[in-house]
Amino acid sequence: MRNSLLVLASFVAAVAAQGVKIVAPAVNTTLTLGETFVIDVERPDSLTGSQEVAIVIGIQSCGQSCDNINTAGDIGRPLYSGLYTPTIVGNGRADLAQNFTVQLPDNIQTGAAVLAVAHFALIIGTEPFLEVVNQVVEIQP
Ligand SMILES: *[C@@H]1O[C@H](CO)[C@@H](O)[C@H](O)[C@H]1NC(C)=O
Ligand SMILES: *[C@@H]1O[C@H](CO)[C@@H](O)[C@H](O)[C@H]1NC(C)=O
Repeated sequence: MRNSLLVLASFVAAVAAQGVKIVAPAVNTTLTLGETFVIDVERPDSLTGSQEVAIVIGIQSCGQSCDNINTAGDIGRPLYSGLYTPTIVGNGRADLAQNFTVQLPDNIQTGAAVLAVAHFALIIGTEPFLEVVNQVVEIQP
């Protein structure tokens, strides 16, 4: 499954520097229906500087295959929608991180599912930047 990347910004180098990643849950983590879990969304501490605005976290079950899921067009069931205000991780790491505690719906299809984060920022305070990153997780009853 490939990460979907919807890029409104034209400066590709800056784009790579601003992108977030889903650090937790790890790929293929097993989650239980109705479970409360933490999603750790991190980004590099880039030199160009960007103003964080917001993220939306969604989840959707894959059905037969995760390959055809396009989270840039459908984020799935929203688990979180709001401000993204990451802070420096510390402990020798320059990355910025924020934890979001969310609850998995108890009526979503079990099996593979795609956790997606849509991330909106302003590069150098003026250039709109939007991306969607994905992580496959496993849902069990
Ligand atoms: C996740 O699961 C898929 C399907 O079983 C497998 O192909 C892939 O290697 C796994 N990835 C990791 C990082 O465990
Ligand atoms: C996020 O949660 C993990 C444990 O779930 C913790 O190790 C980490 O320090 C937390 N990060 C932040 C920025 O709160």
